[in-house]
Amino acid sequence: MANFFPRWTNLLPLKIAVCLIFIVLGLTAAFSYYATPKAQRVGYQPDQPIAYDHDLHANQLGIDCRYCHSSVDKSASAGVPTANTCWNCHQHVQKDNPKLEPLRRAADKNYDKYDGKPIKWVRVHKLPDYAYFSHQAHVGRGVSCKSCHGEVHKMRKVHHAKSLSMAFCLECHREPEKHLRPLEQVYNLDYDVVDYLKAKPELAKEIGYVVGDSSSEAQAKLGKRLKENWDIHPKESCTTCHR
Ligand code: HEC
Ligand code: HEC
Ligand code: HEC
Ligand code: HEC
Ligand code: HEC
Repeated sequence: MANFFPRWTNLLPLKIAVCLIFIVLGLTAAFSYYATPKAQRVGYQPDQPIAYDHDLHANQLGIDCRYCHSSVDKSASAGVPTANTCWNCHQHVQKDNPKLEPLRRAADKNYDKYDGKPIKWVRVHKLPDYAYFSHQAHVGRGVSCKSCHGEVHKMRKVHHAKSLSMAFCLECHREPEKHLRPLEQVYNLDYDVVDYLKAKPELAKEIGYVVGDSSSEAQAKLGKRLKENWDIHPKESCTTCHR
């Protein structure tokens, strides 16, 4: 029998099938890349090797963020404390608490299970490699930890509080005056702009704060002043964060 169809048509169903598979794979990849990370990131709260509690240490005991995140004002990354930082206190406090067993393994040379290996904290906040970020550039310019990490000092277990998406970064780069604080308040996560201005009547008068201003009004006035004084101009060009 004569072959009415050219030979390539034999492969047509296969080609269509292969194309469909690629389309489906592509869509799934695109969906998981664009939708899931951002949707699931907020609220991400992994278990940690030690149930370390920021509410107890930072809020109730009042330990400064920089005691443990000691490079936050000096370099791009904040840094997570070594076991020795914990051991400074815990060789004297609650040494036998079973919750601290992994710490003793890492830091207590007299402990029979001592191995000296660092504690493997699980990273919570992580930008993709193609985005550049620097802590120093922010905390040194009056941007508080709270603007990007939420109320960490009240977290018994750390979770991801803000999206840290590109839109999130740009929102503040366009209007930093909504967020800027006096430098000495950057690490004070309980800072309240209205209380601050009430305690500084001269400054309050200078910037036009009036009693009864809401905290966003007060923030707008103080933020504008700080932005001018410090000549703050966060950039929006792509190469600022993609270099
Ligand atoms: C006594 C030490 C200590 C102090 C003080 C401390 N932290 Fe931490 N912080 C840790 C440890 C340990 C981790 C890692 C384990 C965890 O996530 O709970 C951590 C994790 C974090 C993370 C998440 C890091 C990641 O993986 O993305 C943030 C954000 C953070 N701290 C902010 C703060 C802020 C803000 C303060 C001050 C209010 C503060 N910390 C005070 C020890 C400390
Ligand atoms: C400046 C001193 C100091 C440092 C540094 C410190 N702690 Fe503590 N920690 C304390 C004190 C004080 C308590 C006990 C509070 C109490 O008795 O209720 C405590 C309690 C704890 C507890 C027991 C909490 C509970 O619920 O039973 C754990 C776990 C703990 N710390 C982990 C850590 C880790 C991990 C680090 C290092 C990242 C660290 N601590 C650094 C002072 C410190
Ligand atoms: C302008 C936003 C912003 C501010 C302000 C900020 N952070 Fe972060 N933080 C981030 C981002 C974004 C990451 C993830 C960085 C990455 O993956 O390169 C991060 C990561 C971290 C980490 C884990 C990784 C690391 O850098 O070692 C810690 C700990 C941390 N921040 C603590 C703090 C503390 C403490 C403060 C305040 C003193 C603070 N951050 C202020 C945005 C911010
Ligand atoms: C709450 C406000 C705020 C947020 C949120 C914020 N920034 Fe910024 N950013 C600033 C300010 C203020 C500056 C300093 C501008 C200046 O010095 O004129 C800055 C500066 C920068 C710089 C320049 C640093 C340098 O070395 O020159 C980079 C890069 C940057 N931000 C990246 C980011 C990224 C990435 C994010 C999101 C993860 C982010 N920022 C979120 C306020 C913010
Ligand atoms: C202030 C910092 C900042 C600036 C300026 C910036 N980006 Fe981004 N960009 C980011 C961050 C952070 C991410 C990662 C977002 C995430 O993981 O959710 C990102 C992600 C992206 C992505 C991946 C897709 C996405 O939305 O997650 C693209 C594409 C991109 N940026 C392009 C650009 C272009 C083009 C410009 C200039 C018009 C630009 N960016 C300017 C911080 C910035």
